[in-house]
Amino acid sequence: MKGTTPVRTALLGFPTEVADRLRELIRRRMQVIIQRPDARDGLARLVALQPQCVMLYVGTDGTQTLQWARRVRHDVPESNLIIVCAEDDVSVTREAMRLGCRALAVLGDDEGDLVTVFDQMKHEEHSATDDGLVVALLGAKGGMGTTSLAINLAGALAQHPGRRVALIDLALYIGEVAVYLDMATPYALGELVRDIHRLDDAWIDQNIPRHRTGFYVLSQPAEVDDVDALTSGDVVQSLVALKRYFTHIMLDAGAQLSDVGLTGVHAADQTLVICTQELPSLVSTRRRVALLTQLQGDRTRTRIVVNRWNDNASYGREQIEKYIGHGVNGTVRNDYASMSGCIESGKLLTELAPDAEVTVDIANLIPLFDKSVSQREKSRKKLFGLF
Ligand SMILES: Nc1ncnc2c1ncn2[C@@H]1O[C@H](COP(=O)(O)OP(=O)(O)OP(=O)(O)O)[C@@H](O)[C@H]1O
Ligand SMILES: [Mg+2]
Repeated sequence: MKGTTPVRTALLGFPTEVADRLRELIRRRMQVIIQRPDARDGLARLVALQPQCVMLYVGTDGTQTLQWARRVRHDVPESNLIIVCAEDDVSVTREAMRLGCRALAVLGDDEGDLVTVFDQMKHEEHSATDDGLVVALLGAKGGMGTTSLAINLAGALAQHPGRRVALIDLALYIGEVAVYLDMATPYALGELVRDIHRLDDAWIDQNIPRHRTGFYVLSQPAEVDDVDALTSGDVVQSLVALKRYFTHIMLDAGAQLSDVGLTGVHAADQTLVICTQELPSLVSTRRRVALLTQLQGDRTRTRIVVNRWNDNASYGREQIEKYIGHGVNGTVRNDYASMSGCIESGKLLTELAPDAEVTVDIANLIPLFDKSVSQREKSRKKLFGLF
């Protein structure tokens, strides 16, 4: 039932003086139903209490707290999980993202934002949190067609009415998403970071530009200074927030492995490495596969897509797989006329050449990552089975 009653909240692991401060700050928006300075003492009661929000404090032993956070996610998956830290910590931020936390607040810095989040929660139904899928497209090297595939894949996804799709340009210096799409009033990631606590469906519709085929677009910042100001933490925070409002978040991570691009890849549920059949591209692909396996510790989160596919090229499927040490998971055929026609006209393949084979090839990439939803659920269960 929708309402504006205070948010039933569990406060776990907070030193008393910090808890008192938060109670004072959030006051009428929050009803504390359980408070335990030792988080462990409160965890066992969560299933019975079903709080709308669980706030966990990360003090000196971050690793331990993150274990509690996983347990909270497992025991009360419908609760909003908020992590509060004494100071900024990239590993906590990453894990918070992975766990689909509602918010991550640093004491002293983000307290105003906490109030806003509680204001939002007060008006929400207490039901399962949506969990959008993040898919990164990473070029094996420059010019592989990463942007072309990212925009057309977003367009293909958006054709299904049940999906809400966002496309983010993370190739910050050379990004061309807005140019390819010919969108006049770009809205950049840095602006989203500024507005993050205002996010809801209506706000998104009013403020984030939407391509005519249906997907929303966050472009690269217009000024180089703004690009420099963007941090990995900003990317993670944005993705955490967007996952609640979109079913699919597509990232054009470009080909340069910037901090921000790598963060996006690390946070992604699935990464599509885009390559071609030429040797230099395959050499880079082999390196990317090794890097991603190291970064993500899981080969199933990497998918290889060979673009500009040509049946007569000297490297065929088997040779490529042997060389890069990974299966080829998708191919998109070479169709210069349709692709360059799109760039020249500012249109997508679904608009310009809906029946072309290249358009079908791109739509056929969707099951590569959509299937991963069920795989992800399985691996989560396994993880939580530990407790
Ligand atoms: N399947 C395809 N068939 C033919 N041409 C293609 C195909 N895919 C992309 N192209 C062409 O390849 C060129 C490079 O594409 P795009 O800009 O998307 O690559 P990119 O990897 O994003 O490049 P950058 O590294 O500069 O970001 C464009 O001219 C595009 O039209
Ligand atoms: Mg590009």
